Amino acid sequence: MKISEGRELVLLEGDITEQKVDAIVNAANSSLMGGGGVDGAIHRAGGPKILEECKAYVAKHGRLPTGQAMITTGGDLPARHVIHTVGPVYRERQGVAGRSRDEQGKLLSSCYLESLKLAAEKGLRTVAFPSISTGAYRYPLNEAAPIAVKAVKDFLAQVSSVGEVRFVLFNKETYEAYVNAAGA
Ligand code: APR
Repeated sequence: MKISEGRELVLLEGDITEQKVDAIVNAANSSLMGGGGVDGAIHRAGGPKILEECKAYVAKHGRLPTGQAMITTGGDLPARHVIHTVGPVYRERQGVAGRSRDEQGKLLSSCYLESLKLAAEKGLRTVAFPSISTGAYRYPLNEAAPIAVKAVKDFLAQVSSVGEVRFVLFNKETYEAYVNAAGA
């Protein structure tokens, strides 16, 4: 879907580790030590160099806060870089410790915006996202998809090096949710 001249939002069903783009985004956790889901797939396909750079980052800066992003090599992946971001863990009840639904939405949006800002700082042109937080972090798909699409569309409306953003969705249900959210 063309957002404006030379800026494109692409939705596809597939495996993000196969994307030949400047950067793929990883739905990581704050430790940056890998995990399951897309995090596990990216470290498996990308090889040990990615984890080495994550460890060096944590040694220097500490754990990556929710909503923030950092960048490593793509290692053995077809993508040149991996941008790691930490999505919010969705909680139904908002107790004292819990975040309000609005705060959770802001943090999810921040994952996309901070990742795209980092890509633009590095002069990258093509970026691929998974559906952040909608797996192990249990963010409801029908709430997450509109937040994700809006954040990316808003960013693409600005001038930056980023010309193409892909959502690479791992199953039909997730793909349909993003198609609906994009109004495609
Ligand atoms: N390509 C694209 N998307 C994928 C892939 C893949 N190879 N593998 C999984 N996904 C999808 C899932 O189907 C889901 O739609 O990524 C989305 C996000 O799910 P998770 O990977 O579980 O990520 P998240 O919900 O953000 O939870 C992050 O899980 O793996 C751990 O270390 C990670 O603690 C962190 C937590």
